[in-house]
Amino acid sequence: MDADLKAFEARIARGELIEADDEMPDAYRRQCLRLVVIHANSELMGALPEREWIPRAPGLQRKLAILSKVQDEIGHAQMIYRVAEDLAAPFGTTREDMLDDLLSGNAKFHNVFSYPAPTWADVGIIAWLVDGAALETQGALLRTSYAPYARILRRICAEEAVHLKHGEDIVLTLAGGTPAQRAMLQDALARWWRPLLHFFGPPGESGNKDAFRWRIRTASNEELRQGFLRKYVPKIQRLGLTIPDPELRFHRESGLWLYGDPDWDEFWRVVNGGGLRTAERLNLRRLSRDEQVWVVAAMGRESAA
Ligand SMILES: [Fe+2]
Ligand SMILES: [Fe+2]
Repeated sequence: MDADLKAFEARIARGELIEADDEMPDAYRRQCLRLVVIHANSELMGALPEREWIPRAPGLQRKLAILSKVQDEIGHAQMIYRVAEDLAAPFGTTREDMLDDLLSGNAKFHNVFSYPAPTWADVGIIAWLVDGAALETQGALLRTSYAPYARILRRICAEEAVHLKHGEDIVLTLAGGTPAQRAMLQDALARWWRPLLHFFGPPGESGNKDAFRWRIRTASNEELRQGFLRKYVPKIQRLGLTIPDPELRFHRESGLWLYGDPDWDEFWRVVNGGGLRTAERLNLRRLSRDEQVWVVAAMGRESAA
């Protein structure tokens, strides 16, 4: 191991945080960048399923809440791309390159944002359980060794916690509503359960070991999934909803939730661009970028003046 890497690893071992202008091995920079870009892409694409519901949300209060959530998610994307930009600069990669990669289908984003949201209950399930799953992952990343990411995650997690409450409120309203509303909620849960299990990634596929050694990541896919199951399975069951997995049960000896095979082939199909709404949502994102070219150009002229 060369002296620079040794000194860097000693800093990590002492629990120090790494700042954007600190010396860091290229491999560390690349690992952080990979993680951060997937997160930024996911925030940007994650706004789209709920965006579809802004005009259709039931009542002014729900419209305002969902509008504000969608704005938050786009804001998260902007903050995270800013972190990515600093990490990518030494490689000569810009924010525009990252967006190009996303729009051309070459970059990954979270599986859950490739699924349709056909009913209002889907919106409740997304805000409650998808944001709940995201909070599980992002909460663990608060302890990441890359300081600029950890700092913005503090703000992002605070906002995600509000999203989750907003989702829980929609779900509780539907759960206490008419038989038709309860049935709509049950259907939405059945649609989202498998994507939610997939969200954390396959067990044992927790990325490069360096990501843990360098404290870029602090929890494995399975640890995160178990954290989610521990929190949400009892809540879902208390609402009287049925989780569509006959093999799901709590294993007392290990303290783990056991679940049936969630079909990891489907997960790979979706994250590799084959999700039901992947092409349509990327098209929409492309369209918004094309429509905004003149705004970006005008702002560029303004700041150059
Ligand atoms: Fe977010
Ligand atoms: Fe959120």
